[in-house]
Amino acid sequence: MEKFKFAVLISGSGTNLQALINKFAFDKRIEICCVISNSEEAYGLERAKNAGIDNLSINHNNFSSRKEFEEALIKSLSEYNPDLIVLAGFMRILSEVFVNRYSDRLVNIHPSLLPKYKGLETHKRVIENKEKYHGVTVHFVDESLDGGPICAQSRIKVETDDPDELKKSIHKLEYELYPTVIEEIANGKLFLSNGKVIRK
Ligand code: GRF
Repeated sequence: MEKFKFAVLISGSGTNLQALINKFAFDKRIEICCVISNSEEAYGLERAKNAGIDNLSINHNNFSSRKEFEEALIKSLSEYNPDLIVLAGFMRILSEVFVNRYSDRLVNIHPSLLPKYKGLETHKRVIENKEKYHGVTVHFVDESLDGGPICAQSRIKVETDDPDELKKSIHKLEYELYPTVIEEIANGKLFLSNGKVIRK
């Protein structure tokens, strides 16, 4: 049986990538085929290297437009023919062209209970607004910021007023939720049909 292959796009530390590596390193059916970063500095590239996973950086600053950057990204991704593209702290907005090309096959994790708190600094804003709950969302990606059909969420009670502490608790949720959802997608238990998430 052919393996289910997914590519991971990162920009930074890659702790979610590490959770995925830990989950799938010895899986016979599901594998990370490549890790691509838009920055050479991303520590996640080290994590990929250490795990023996193909990795490369494509620095967006070396391109004169988003279109050219994305063309380079698509070219590299195509060499691996991934079944799924997993955004894990990838800090570039992707155009409609990219999103449509990988529609139904592009997922992201966001540190908030979407549709609340799109964008950055979610932990700080959640505390400022005295929210009772905070959490994480895994979603299929559309062309809007942190938008697209939701695959799964998990949440915790907000019991601190320190954004860094809250961030740590949220990260723990992320490391559980993202690998679980990707496994469901790989096993055909969760997919998009006519823009709706179906769970079998
Ligand atoms: C995570 O909080 C993720 O939800 C968000 O970016 C962060 C990436 O962290 N999209 P890391 O690089 O996985 O450590």
